[in-house]
Amino acid sequence: MKIGIIVHSQTDNTYSVALKLQDALIQSGNEVEVKRVTMSGGDRPENKEKIRLEDSPEVDGYDALIFGAPVHAFALAPAMQIYMENLPSLENKKIALFVTKKLHFEWTGGSRAIGEMKKQCLSKGGEIAGTGVIVWNKHKEEKITEVVQNFVNLF
Ligand SMILES: Cc1cc2nc3c(=O)[nH]c(=O)nc-3n(C[C@H](O)[C@H](O)[C@H](O)COP(=O)(O)O)c2cc1C
Repeated sequence: MKIGIIVHSQTDNTYSVALKLQDALIQSGNEVEVKRVTMSGGDRPENKEKIRLEDSPEVDGYDALIFGAPVHAFALAPAMQIYMENLPSLENKKIALFVTKKLHFEWTGGSRAIGEMKKQCLSKGGEIAGTGVIVWNKHKEEKITEVVQNFVNLF
């Protein structure tokens, strides 16, 4: 399966998970590319209207997609919101979603961010196969391993 892992990441937490997913999915026989959504114009949630996407990776050509992003201000990071709002059709694509976040509880933005990603994918005809929330604390390595294993089992 040709899988695109598309992430927004400002301090490389989310990107580092993308690289682990890539390794594991290649090992399980897939062709996998990691692409980054990048932006200019400020990285604060209150600056959403000033954000301009610089790299907006294309999704055509992948059988499956994994989208990853940080939680910002109890919601999906605004650059990823903008990117996902502007995605083309995702019909016939199997999709998995993950977010990284710092605060301990999933309700401090994790579930909401995943919900926002799901809504955008479903509105474009995508099929959500799995999701993961990774809290960036001392237990993160176990959680990353769990999410990577879950996603390997999906594809
Ligand atoms: C502006 C801003 C807002 C944030 N808001 C939250 C939040 O509401 N909840 C949370 O758990 N973490 C929050 N964080 C922490 C990030 O989600 C966390 O550090 C994430 O792993 C960063 O991912 P990245 O390195 O891929 O950018 C925030 C970070 C920033 C910079």
